[in-house]
Amino acid sequence: MASARTTRDVAGTAPRTEPPAPSERPIARHLLPDTATVARDGRLSVGGVDVLDLVGELGTPLFVYDAAHLRARCSEAVAAFGPGVAYATKAFLCKAMARVALDAGMSLDVSTAGELATALAAGAPPERIVLHGNNKSGEEIETAHAVGVARLVVDSFDEIDRLARVVAAAPRADGRDQPVLVRVTPGVEAHTHEYVMTGQEDSKFGFSLASGAADRAAALLAAMGGVELVGVHAHIGSQIFRLDAYEREIAALVPYVERHELLELCVGGGLGVAYVAGEEAPTIASWAVFLRGACDAAGLAPAVSVTAEPGRAIVANAALTCYRVGTVKELPGIRTYVAVDGGMSDNPRPVLYGSGYEAFLPRATYAERPFAARVVGKHCESGDVLVADARLPADVAVGDVLATPVTGAYGFSMASNYNRVPRPAVVFVEDGTASVVVRRETVEDLLRLEP
Ligand code: LLP
Repeated sequence: MASARTTRDVAGTAPRTEPPAPSERPIARHLLPDTATVARDGRLSVGGVDVLDLVGELGTPLFVYDAAHLRARCSEAVAAFGPGVAYATKAFLCKAMARVALDAGMSLDVSTAGELATALAAGAPPERIVLHGNNKSGEEIETAHAVGVARLVVDSFDEIDRLARVVAAAPRADGRDQPVLVRVTPGVEAHTHEYVMTGQEDSKFGFSLASGAADRAAALLAAMGGVELVGVHAHIGSQIFRLDAYEREIAALVPYVERHELLELCVGGGLGVAYVAGEEAPTIASWAVFLRGACDAAGLAPAVSVTAEPGRAIVANAALTCYRVGTVKELPGIRTYVAVDGGMSDNPRPVLYGSGYEAFLPRATYAERPFAARVVGKHCESGDVLVADARLPADVAVGDVLATPVTGAYGFSMASNYNRVPRPAVVFVEDGTASVVVRRETVEDLLRLEP
């Protein structure tokens, strides 16, 4: 998805439809975490920690996150949007990540009981939590209401019925009405992979603006006791580079805001990031400026607060995944397969969306990469590809640590136990110190679920 359908379009450049050709040049600096440095001998450090030493200690596969990078992106989001901006936890969540976002002043967007419980376990005050979800259970609504989340984003008429029952059964602990947003589908198609497009009419998310369903939802919520209708929410998709889609989203939402006298407009998340050489994404700050301009152009009253919930743009470039090369299989006249000790279980994005990644060797970080290979995992299917068309140093060998950058979003969070492969550990590095924030899963962990 990253490489095939996206382009930089902040300045209105023409969309690129072809994936950029794989680069034999050394890995591009902007694909590495902010604090990455390379020693004279080529070894990579992140957060002042030598990555090969770290891998020697903690094993592979390993998600390595640059904590300073995470903090910087969270602070950038808060500076750009103000304190209401929420981190979309689905991109990557553990207690340590929630704390980084909270410490920087962000709220947390959660979509399930599991994400809500993690946010609460991390110490998130309920007034900094927003609950999403297109099929929230009665229990999820009940818990969110009982703890008193800041916003509940209402997605369907069935949910309105469930919400009515919950608020009628018991008041919130603080006795206040539950603030709600209406999730709408604005009828906007973003230029991204169809699996992560969400703003179009044909969608499982939200209420359609065009059909009048969104107006009916607003009327029901405005009339319901125990809730306060404060705003509208839309999310048009993910990994978006062409910001003009947000302009259309905002133009569609502003009349709705006016009609229902709302105080808040949340544009969702979706800002894209660069995954491979040749890609360049708008910054969070420039995204916010663009959105503000689009709101002004659409005539949105300045008193309406405009907010967002970025996920990928906060965490994607903060991390890399380290693997150990187990086999190098050369098929003469066909290709070479470099197999590593992870795969689609720790990064399903190439399989799901055809997403492009790069690979490099942290022992020779800035080496030229003339050797074409397909980096694959250890799972029992041919689709288990991490980098379909990788370029690597020519001396890549069995035993090498191989890294894929830009794996901080939707990697660990979408990891599975396919083939009973335990999920990798996650480590945060900062100021020369490494902290394991999620320990490596073991086979015993998996077996523990069974009688
Ligand atoms: N808000 C809502 C309501 C969302 O559904 C999402 C993402 C976000 C915010 C954050 O979007 P972001 O800023 O991360 O693009 N698994 C896919 C991405 C799915 C996105 C789902 N919703 C991938 O790996 O590309």
